[in-house]
Amino acid sequence: MNYQQVIESVFEAVAKENLRGKLADYIPELARVNHELFGVCLVDRQGNTYQYGDSQTAFSIQSISKAHTLTMVYSDLAADLWKRVNVEPSGNPFNNLAQLEYENGIPRNPFINSGALVTTDALMSMHAEPKEAIHQFIKGMTGGEDVSANKAVQESELECADRNRAVAHLLKSYNNLHNDVEELMEVYTYHCALEMNCEQLAKSFLYLANHGHCIYTNRQVLDRGLTKRINALMLTCGFYDEAGEFAFKVGLAGKSGVGGGVIAVLPGEFSIAVYSPELNEKGNPVKALRFLELLTTDMGISLF
Ligand code: DON
Repeated sequence: MNYQQVIESVFEAVAKENLRGKLADYIPELARVNHELFGVCLVDRQGNTYQYGDSQTAFSIQSISKAHTLTMVYSDLAADLWKRVNVEPSGNPFNNLAQLEYENGIPRNPFINSGALVTTDALMSMHAEPKEAIHQFIKGMTGGEDVSANKAVQESELECADRNRAVAHLLKSYNNLHNDVEELMEVYTYHCALEMNCEQLAKSFLYLANHGHCIYTNRQVLDRGLTKRINALMLTCGFYDEAGEFAFKVGLAGKSGVGGGVIAVLPGEFSIAVYSPELNEKGNPVKALRFLELLTTDMGISLF
């Protein structure tokens, strides 16, 4: 398969469609990016990279970081994690509060905000310096790249995080949160504000395409069984109330972020990061989703 050629022709076809969406503005700082950016990078299991467009432009990875923190926590807690978080699609927006109440403080899955807050809480209980632990983890997983959080984006989110604070307090009332809410918000907004480009992002998730083995650290990040489960969760829950549509149209394991990034994985083959900041009404990047739909269709390969 000539990945470079397919990527370029699909990219050009999508660019011509002039698809539009809306920049995320509930975190005001995110609305300041250039809405026309569009980039992609695919990394195959050998570590060869194929990129096009604005693939070297760093962007806010937002919810995609929930898959990094889940990996860190899962490698230590294994099945114990599922006592605190469920593994079902939520069928609701990522910041939904009501479902948490009528399901007694157990989030539907680790990718909606409530589930990610529990994961971050578990991570804080494991590491004395959780932000530094996340930083070092991602550094290793990208082959030594020093990625950092955008302070302005983090502060912008902290100023308007009332809904996430409400979720955290509700979790605490159900005894499913062990750390201080404000300290939790600090770590959560830190990992959401991390900035990476498509190449770094695709590299950091290559282990999911490689049965849990990271070629950059030469380390088994998760065993094959746990890796399978993260991929399954990304397929079923990675796009919130649009997860069914993503499986239907794209057919890869994936995770989106309101910064405009998407990571997608074909286990055994490749990871691919796509970036386009304008979002649809479900909070997922319009051009990036269309790109992945056409790519899997043109290549004739997906999970199915
Ligand atoms: O907690 C939030 O609302 C953001 N930091 C992350 C949300 C997000 O990226 C949802 N993904 N599409």
